[in-house]
Amino acid sequence: ARPVRASLAPRRPEYVPSRIDDPNYVRIFDTTLRDGEQSPGATMTSAEKLVIARQLARLGVDIIEAGFPASSPDDLDAVRSIAIEVGNTPVGEDGHVPVICGLSRCNKRDIDAAWEAVRHARRPRIHTFIATSEIHMQHKLRKTPEQVVAIAREMVAYARSLGCTDVEFSPEDAGRSNREFLYHILEEVIKAGATTLNIPDTVGYTLPYEFGKLIADIKANTPGIENAIISTHCQNDLGLATANTLAGAHAGARQLEVTVNGIGERAGNASLEEVVMAIKCRRELLGGLYTGINSQHITMSSKMVQEHSGLHVQPHKAIVGANAFAHESGIHQDGMLKYKGTYEIISPDDIGLTRANEFGIVLGKLSGRHAVRSKLVELGYEITDKEFEDFFKRYKEVAEKKKRVTDEDIEALLSDEIFQP
Ligand code: KIV
Repeated sequence: ARPVRASLAPRRPEYVPSRIDDPNYVRIFDTTLRDGEQSPGATMTSAEKLVIARQLARLGVDIIEAGFPASSPDDLDAVRSIAIEVGNTPVGEDGHVPVICGLSRCNKRDIDAAWEAVRHARRPRIHTFIATSEIHMQHKLRKTPEQVVAIAREMVAYARSLGCTDVEFSPEDAGRSNREFLYHILEEVIKAGATTLNIPDTVGYTLPYEFGKLIADIKANTPGIENAIISTHCQNDLGLATANTLAGAHAGARQLEVTVNGIGERAGNASLEEVVMAIKCRRELLGGLYTGINSQHITMSSKMVQEHSGLHVQPHKAIVGANAFAHESGIHQDGMLKYKGTYEIISPDDIGLTRANEFGIVLGKLSGRHAVRSKLVELGYEITDKEFEDFFKRYKEVAEKKKRVTDEDIEALLSDEIFQP
């Protein structure tokens, strides 16, 4: 495998901590505070954004996209505060300082605002984008492909001319763009100084094998691509954002754009916790890829983003949903009590989750004798086998009528005369 980053190291040595020289290292670019905040109803105050940015730094994300500074003076202030504080504070065992990034369209006003906000960080980045699909160029931009290439080239060069050595370019709606046109525009922006090329599946249209092939084709056919990092940005309109992101990583992307809890425009983005834990869990199958995320901060990060964005995850949400490490059916509970690996591929400790009980057992109508009996032991009750059979019959009657059987329900059943000494 060729070193992904080696050719950039001499140009900006201060930018490159040792781990990113490793071709298997995958950078995590978190856009919770930018694309995530674009979720309907998720607006956050500057103070809330700063609190989340501190947590993202603790979590170990490599790049924090802190906002879209040209969108409002408030957002510019929020991004600037994050750049000043979080962008200058070493965190984690390796003392890394995250890159602080601001989004801009391809125009000077946006780029100036982004630079004004991020330039205070030790490692600032401007992320600029313009649409490249036929449908967007014709109906939204009303520009020819040649005009779009010229604007992209000029604006990337403009961002570099401000003194920003780290410029990311995104061809918006790349998932529906013409391949040859993509190779061409990417080649031109690399020549103009872009250091990261982000490939957005803006409307979540592609299928995993298709998105993986798109990344592989860009890597194989874009002149100069070896001087840049390829990135993914997958929306979740068909529920495929995580799968597409992983396909992109497998095909050579070494930066993945994600959000905590998968929040974002419409159906959201690839979720940080799913992508990171999939890479951790299936590292071998992914050819040894790894991230710098400290997964023990995942649960706390998820809770904070729920609280500040007001967007709560569904109970069955992978990794961070309330049911993700809970077991109700008798067969599963029996397996868990014998060996946790029977029904869990990740240990809750790995994501910083402390469960109410060691085995994640939730009592309900599907629970079996083994789990109910272990609950009695946990609560400190010892009853004979005969008493247990009576108890279990009445337990089932109660469980039929309730979604969940709580410790209080068990105590109430036990307080019936039959079990009194
Ligand atoms: O979805 C998208 O295309 C974006 C780009 C600006 C990266 O958010």
